[in-house]
Amino acid sequence: MTTSTGMLNLDGLYAARAREARVVGHWPDAAEGTISLAYGFAAPEKFPTDGLIAATTEVLAEDAARALNYGPTYPGLIQLIAGRLQARGIESSAERVLVTHGSSQAIGLLAQVFLDPGDVVIIEGPTFLGAVNSFREAGARLVTVNIDEHGLDPAVLEATLEALQRAGTPAKLLYTIPTFHNPSGTLMPPERRARLLALAAAHNLLILEDDAYGELYFDAPPPPSLAALDRAGVVVYIGTFSKILAPGVRIGFAHARPEIIQRLVMFKIEGGNGPYLTRVVERYCADGRLDEHITGLRQVYRQKAHVMFDALERELGDMLQYRKPDGGFFVWGRLGYGISAQALLHASQRLGVTFVPGSGFYADGQGGDTIRLAFSLQAEPAIVEGIRRLGMAARQVRAAGA
Ligand SMILES: Cc1ncc(COP(=O)(O)O)c(C=O)c1O
Repeated sequence: MTTSTGMLNLDGLYAARAREARVVGHWPDAAEGTISLAYGFAAPEKFPTDGLIAATTEVLAEDAARALNYGPTYPGLIQLIAGRLQARGIESSAERVLVTHGSSQAIGLLAQVFLDPGDVVIIEGPTFLGAVNSFREAGARLVTVNIDEHGLDPAVLEATLEALQRAGTPAKLLYTIPTFHNPSGTLMPPERRARLLALAAAHNLLILEDDAYGELYFDAPPPPSLAALDRAGVVVYIGTFSKILAPGVRIGFAHARPEIIQRLVMFKIEGGNGPYLTRVVERYCADGRLDEHITGLRQVYRQKAHVMFDALERELGDMLQYRKPDGGFFVWGRLGYGISAQALLHASQRLGVTFVPGSGFYADGQGGDTIRLAFSLQAEPAIVEGIRRLGMAARQVRAAGA
């Protein structure tokens, strides 16, 4: 049956899950001239364009016939990932690694493998909702545990786990970002990491550790990851090349026990990531080149972060309370003087700067007085100008009493 426009009527054709799905994966464009401090985009000036061109040329010259035909993920890249994880104290090997289309795909596959409708997933408040959407679409019941300035507090988690247990709805999975958290920038100290692992083992809880930013510290390396400390096989570790190489390559991975990897593979039904890009990325990263590149990134993000800290001090003063992160891409702050994040966003957009209001990082509607500012994308002068505009907007909202 067609509609009045002569187009096929899709209403009766959509599957129930598509009719009920929420809109995700949409990146609204900032208006022309607007300085976006919204998304965690990588620093474009640091993309290793020449290195990637050289790697592409080499791979095609050497073996175009295999690189460009159907084929699996290049085994050399899997080895490279396992080797990098080992260098960070994680007991890894090729059968413990699955390469995916960004870490987002790994998170989606884990939701398919572990979650039935109604299963309880514990998430941090705030957290990266891009991941949480995968749990939502799997029909999970989300339980938010608020974090403090050191990330997730095991005591609060324990109380939540016990309450869920008593209610007959034990939690199945915990999604956590212990290192340079998105959005809050927090870093979980070693004692909390150890306590978290013990709790998970005692409660038969799977931990999904998202380590998108772990290598991007400013001064000192972070404590060992949960995966490096895990002796009971409770951690599934998720990593990505998005922040250390380029988001456009869409290469991420899961590291987990081999039996979990085998399950994940069953749901990666489009097959591997293919031989071409995975070969090129391996070629670029090999022989210490990626490590050298990451050393340069740390300096750039450190510098951008400090430019933002200084500008915030100057332009917002006590209108924004925040803790300086030691790595990652973001500043997370709480607005003072009753300024609402939504009102600030509207005023900011009129002045040509944008950010993400904190409510975009809570699954349960909290965060109305919080904001996230990304320093990763913009050049230093744009960060300074963006924060100047943000300061003007904050003064306007404050004066208007909104
Ligand atoms: C904490 C966290 N996890 C995962 C991702 C997604 O990364 P990918 O590009 O690998 O899908 C992001 C991206 O912003 C992130 O901040």
